[in-house]
Amino acid sequence: MFFKYLATTLAFLSVLSLGQSQSTDFPTESGFPTPSATISAGPVLPSPSSGVAGNNTSVKVTALVGANNATTLQCWQLQPNATFSQSTGAYIQPLGDFTNASLAIFNGANSSFVGLTTTDKPQWTAFLAGGGTIRLHGSGQFATFRRGDLFVANDTTGSQGHESLWLPGTVALQLPVSGAVNYVVINNNGSCNAATRN
Ligand SMILES: *[C@@H]1O[C@H](CO)[C@@H](O)[C@H](O)[C@H]1NC(C)=O
Ligand SMILES: *[C@@H]1O[C@H](CO)[C@@H](O)[C@H](O)[C@H]1NC(C)=O
Ligand SMILES: *[C@@H]1O[C@H](CO)[C@@H](O)[C@H](O)[C@H]1NC(C)=O
Ligand SMILES: *[C@@H]1O[C@H](CO)[C@@H](O)[C@H](O)[C@H]1NC(C)=O
Ligand SMILES: *[C@@H]1O[C@H](CO)[C@@H](O)[C@H](O)[C@H]1NC(C)=O
Ligand SMILES: *[C@@H]1O[C@H](CO)[C@@H](O)[C@H](O)[C@H]1NC(C)=O
Ligand SMILES: *[C@@H]1O[C@H](CO)[C@@H](O)[C@H](O)[C@H]1NC(C)=O
Ligand SMILES: *[C@@H]1O[C@H](CO)[C@@H](O)[C@H](O)[C@H]1NC(C)=O
Repeated sequence: MFFKYLATTLAFLSVLSLGQSQSTDFPTESGFPTPSATISAGPVLPSPSSGVAGNNTSVKVTALVGANNATTLQCWQLQPNATFSQSTGAYIQPLGDFTNASLAIFNGANSSFVGLTTTDKPQWTAFLAGGGTIRLHGSGQFATFRRGDLFVANDTTGSQGHESLWLPGTVALQLPVSGAVNYVVINNNGSCNAATRN
């Protein structure tokens, strides 16, 4: 029992220490491509130089959506806009109400392959450490996420889902939404980064 606990603790600590270094050396086994061959799908956050009460700004995030037996990427503008908070000096973007939030702590020594999954309810995922690549079933696209990235999985129907390959020591905060994510689709086939790159 003690050794099991010790092993778990050591594994957890190694995850935390590995998580400190931002690796761009994504694993490429199982047919996953190098990051240069993938779509960078992190959020598109505004960086306002200043704000005043009543001011607002839009935040865009990449969403995984399912249709016609495939998962594809969309770029969503979240609703309502982020508003400036005088007490914190920051723009605050509502993300909705969550249920049963969790941390996914992946193997600290080896990369982790996760087979096809769909999401049963819309869910935010934020990367606190590590990152990796998601393969979108059916569309044949690959999307790359790095530490600090945020996306919403919304492939609840219409697809067999997505599979993924995560760097050793990846830690992801998972926030299933109890209500709905409110959004306007600004690109119905592509990530936010792809949308703004052009
Ligand atoms: C309001 O926010 C926008 C977008 O970030 C920014 O460009 C603008 O300067 C802000 N306006 C004021 C009055 O701070
Ligand atoms: C947000 O800012 C835009 C541009 O400054 C303004 O037209 C709009 O009315 C504002 N919306 C809200 C809800 O305050
Ligand atoms: C949201 O913010 C953008 C600027 O980032 C502004 O152009 C737009 O009018 C705002 N929308 C609303 C509904 O306030
Ligand atoms: C969806 O894809 C799977 C595997 O590629 C295939 O077996 C199935 O028939 C497809 N379903 C539809 C409705 O196209
Ligand atoms: C949250 O998880 C617990 C334990 O697995 C479960 O009993 C509960 O029904 C879940 N709550 C919701 C809202 O899904
Ligand atoms: C990592 O992979 C190697 C080679 O497959 C294996 O020997 C080792 O036990 C794995 N370590 C962990 C912590 O999963
Ligand atoms: C996102 O998920 C919700 C809840 O399952 C669904 O109603 C909505 O149509 C989905 N949006 C897209 C663009 O697939
Ligand atoms: C979506 O975009 C991909 C590549 O960016 C393209 O191959 C595919 O045909 C597009 N799908 C639709 C329905 O436009």
